[in-house]
This record gives sequence, structure tokens and C-alpha cells, in this order.
Amino acid sequence: MQWLLHVLLASFVWQSVAISLRSNSSGTRTTAAAGLRKPGCGCDANSPSWHKTSRTQPKCVFIDLGAADGNTFDNFLADGYGPVSNCPHGGDWEAILVEANPVFSKKLKSLEANLGGKVRSLASTAAYSCETTTTFSIDADPTHNFWASSLDEKVGQQEVTVPTINVNKLIAENVRPDDWVILKVDIEGAEYEVMPCLAEFKDAELIDEIFLEEHWWFPDRTREQNATMVLAKDKLKSRKIRIPAYFSNS
Ligand SMILES: *[C@@H]1O[C@H](CO)[C@@H](O)[C@H](O)[C@H]1NC(C)=O
Ligand SMILES: *[C@@H]1O[C@H](CO)[C@@H](O)[C@H](O)[C@H]1NC(C)=O
Repeated sequence: MQWLLHVLLASFVWQSVAISLRSNSSGTRTTAAAGLRKPGCGCDANSPSWHKTSRTQPKCVFIDLGAADGNTFDNFLADGYGPVSNCPHGGDWEAILVEANPVFSKKLKSLEANLGGKVRSLASTAAYSCETTTTFSIDADPTHNFWASSLDEKVGQQEVTVPTINVNKLIAENVRPDDWVILKVDIEGAEYEVMPCLAEFKDAELIDEIFLEEHWWFPDRTREQNATMVLAKDKLKSRKIRIPAYFSNS
């Protein structure tokens, strides 16, 4: 449990730094928010057509939504989410890295190539609550690791169109009940769609822990979204999923 204290303490230290960085650039967002576009589909919470994994042994599954260049995956490998050696089946693990911003595709594909089948890179793919394509703008400023790339906030001039994946389906098809599943969610606002949909997922208890970064300071957040998020988290917590306070500076 000591690692857990470390994670929590570190997240409080990061918080003050990260908020000051981000609140400045949210000013940029306000002026440019006119072009926001949401993906044109809703919440596909469950489906009988999703196929369960045929994998026969348990392991840790680290699902990183908003993986950027793999920086939080590095943290996972460095025991930042608990000792990797404690993972089931002799410390076995797998990581699924989802990142919408094509800027990171090369880096993520090289992680996939270099880590012998343990990393699956879903690069240039947006984490969402249904499958479609989406157009969003890229933060062209590399200063903060391109962290502001967003599905629903127009922050820069460059636009790209990428497919979305359904997070519920990703989990339904890739994890076993005896896996230890860590879900990191840092998707620049799309969490207000993804989390409520996850709460409607009949097999949500496949997840053990959710590390969620809430972008509540975005200028177009509404009170309703806040309330929906609180309900979604309560529902997930009632199914024995841990959702600790979390903040990253990337
Ligand atoms: C906010 O960002 C602008 C431009 O990126 C910069 O000139 C300014 O100093 C920043 N302000 C603060 C308070 O960091
Ligand atoms: C949403 O909740 C946050 C705190 O979690 C609060 O700071 C923010 O003002 C709320 N936004 C709205 C629009 O109510």
C-alpha cells in the first residue's frame, strides 16, 4: 500500500503545477472554442456482438486513454501504479495505449515494436463511447508535450480526422475477470462522455482502478456534466472500482 501513498502524494504536488500551466492556456481555448465538434454517435454501452478474450492466463492490463508519447506507460513500468512484479501469473502485463494525436504515433508504434507483444498501440485513435470518426484540432505547441489536444475544444489551427474506439468494447474484448485492470483516462474533455457510458457497462467490474483526470476547468463545461460525472463515478465505485484523486502534468 505504500506505493499508493506515493502516487497520491505525488498527484497533489503535480496538481498545483499543472493547474497553473493549464489555466493559462485555457484562455487560448476560450477565444478559439467556436469550432468544437463532438463525434456523431452516443453511448454504445453494451453489445452481444462483443467477443470475450480467448486468453487463458491472467495478467495486469494497463489501459492508457490519452497515452501521449507513452509517458504514463513509463510510469506504470516504473511501478507508479503499484509493483508490476505483483501482477498475476508471475508479474505478467500488457499495455493498451490509445492516443488521438498523430504527433505521437511514431513513438507509440516503436514502443509496440520494441516490447515484444506486450504493448498494443492504438495510435491516431480517439477513446470514446462509440465507434465513428472524429475531427479535432491539434495543439501545435509542443511546450507541454502537446497535452491540450482535444476532442471537443478547438485549441490550435491544425485539424485531423481519426477513428474512435468504444472504451467499453475495448475492455469487454480484452480483459479477463481475474486480470488486474488499470484504466487511465486523460482525454481532454471526452471523459464527460466516456465515464457515464462506462457506468452503464454491464461488465464494468472487470476494471479494478480508474485514474481519471477531469477537465472541469474547460470553459464550456456545464453543471449538468459535472453532476453526470459525479453520478457515473458513484455508480462505478459502488461496483468496487477504485477511483482515487488523480492529476498528471502531461
Ligand atoms: C500565458 O501564456 C502566454 C503565451 O503563451 C505567456 O506570454 C504568458 O506569460 C502566460 N502567463 C502566465 C501567467 O503564465
Ligand atoms: C464543476 O466542478 C468543479 C469542481 O469539481 C468546479 O470547480 C466547477 O466550477 C464546476 N463547473 C460548473 C460549470 O459547475
